[in-house]
Amino acid sequence: TQPLIIAFDGPAASGKGTLASVIAADYSLPFLDTGLLYRAAGHLAHVLGIDPAQAAQRITPELLNDEALRGREAGERASQVAAIPAVRAALKQFQIDFAHQPSGAVLDGRDIGTVIAPDATVKLFVTATPEIRAERRWKQLVKLNPALTFDEVLSDIRIRDARDSGRADAPLEKAGDALLLDTSDLGIEAAIAAARSLVKDRC
Ligand code: C5P
Repeated sequence: TQPLIIAFDGPAASGKGTLASVIAADYSLPFLDTGLLYRAAGHLAHVLGIDPAQAAQRITPELLNDEALRGREAGERASQVAAIPAVRAALKQFQIDFAHQPSGAVLDGRDIGTVIAPDATVKLFVTATPEIRAERRWKQLVKLNPALTFDEVLSDIRIRDARDSGRADAPLEKAGDALLLDTSDLGIEAAIAAARSLVKDRC
């Protein structure tokens, strides 16, 4: 049998990361949150004052655990450097290799089903309205930054959506053969149940 490759794509705060990690645990597959790679590249470029493509080549596993990568600034910097083709090129082979390891794998990102693993066994495109995504993201971020408002987060989300969907290189888009999962009206447990059922039907 072919190794199981499960691709989760979708916009910021759609819930894809949470769903992907649950499915990875269900099937005992290694999991890669590819957004962390772009966050690390943007963060490192900023901290060291170096070219983002060079920063992408210097990412280490320890750096991916840095709490600073979870913050709002890191997300904004990630989406800026993610539009640079040399940054995407520097991160591409690692993701392709991760997806195609013999054990199989689960990855979440923006271009997994389209560019990194077009051959994935199952592709889920997870989405929700900008308002719902902003509310979820705000609830996470306000714990780190109590002054942050919902409107600021909504504005960030809209800018990030436009940049991720509008870039020329590997834009955020649903693969033709991806299954759509809209989590706007689903609580976390219902979203997990929906994802499990979609994956199960294809495996
Ligand atoms: O998913 P996350 O919010 O951590 O991603 C941060 C940014 O990294 C996204 O807004 C997107 O611009 C970029 N990204 C990407 N391709 C991926 C994963 C993330 O361009 N596969």
